[in-house]
Amino acid sequence: MKKTISVLPGDGIGPEIIEQAVRVLKTIEKKYKHQFEFAYGLVGAAAIDATGDPYPAETHELCLQSDAILFGAIGDPKYDNDPKAKVRPEQGLLRMRKSLGLFANLRPIQVMPALIEASPLKAERIRNVDFVVVRELTGGIYFGDKGRNEARDQAYDVCAYSKEEVDRILRVSFELARTRRNKLTVVDKANVLETSRLWRECAQEMHAKEYSDVHIEFLFVDNAAMQMITRPSEFDVIVTENMFGDILTDEASVITGSLGLLPSASIGAAVGLFEPIHGSYPQAAGKNIANPIATVLSAAMLLESSFGMVQEAQAIRLACQESIEAGVVTEDIARGGKAYSTSAVGDWLCKKIEA
Ligand code: IPM
Ligand code: MN
Repeated sequence: MKKTISVLPGDGIGPEIIEQAVRVLKTIEKKYKHQFEFAYGLVGAAAIDATGDPYPAETHELCLQSDAILFGAIGDPKYDNDPKAKVRPEQGLLRMRKSLGLFANLRPIQVMPALIEASPLKAERIRNVDFVVVRELTGGIYFGDKGRNEARDQAYDVCAYSKEEVDRILRVSFELARTRRNKLTVVDKANVLETSRLWRECAQEMHAKEYSDVHIEFLFVDNAAMQMITRPSEFDVIVTENMFGDILTDEASVITGSLGLLPSASIGAAVGLFEPIHGSYPQAAGKNIANPIATVLSAAMLLESSFGMVQEAQAIRLACQESIEAGVVTEDIARGGKAYSTSAVGDWLCKKIEA
């Protein structure tokens, strides 16, 4: 197959982890006789430095013209500590998601057997953990009206959702549940928030009319945060609004032993975007120590979900699993054993896939 992939390394460790994922993709290209064209673009602080805009028009064009997007990470401490900054790297990612119509963010959480001991949770609690959080990605408080009063001593961020926005993400989630263990958990704060009551109403209606075969449960987000730690293996598909999903998936990542392992897919329109769920980890930037696995697994999701390359994706996943079993891992999951560099893990993965 001939495909064009937009590659957006972004900030911090972004370029290093993306480099390994691209090497893995090139290995797949050769082994399975595909033709991948990689088109690089700027986003985030890197794009602000070069153009003044965290999501330049050229990057948007590049994305629209490609078959899928592989993205690294965004964020730079020089903006984090400056609440007055008018232009922020994160705006690039938010505009990219919105303008590409990527309303559904799929974040799978699985515990690899070799890493059970790396989790801070007890082994018996996490042995069979396998769930997906479907995070709504282009609405809610992230995108509502925001501002200050004239004296600038009051601020607001509006959380708004339309039935249409809620229905389309629910549909993705019900459909996903049907391909898995047929269970959907809708997470909201319907005891307090009006938007959550709309979510619950939409979910009940859709369940009754179209998906009564799917087992549905409703949880308040505070309770869900707790249950994710006390009974994580009982979840199958969790659907929730933008900010709850952001918070819950960082929490969920801890179950697996490291935030450095988790890939994600953002879909909804013609072009999908694939990225690790972790951030730009600026303290590690340029040191060749960051874990490339989350980005490599994101590349696997890209091949499977955008190009239908199931076998190729499986080969990548298997190599990742084997690298962990063989102890060829970066320091975040080395647990006192030898810590390999980012590029050494990449080398090992490519060799394994080639073999
Ligand atoms: C994520 C990140 C982003 C978000 C930031 C960088 C804007 O935390 O993808 O989870 O909050 O969505
Ligand atoms: Mn986040």
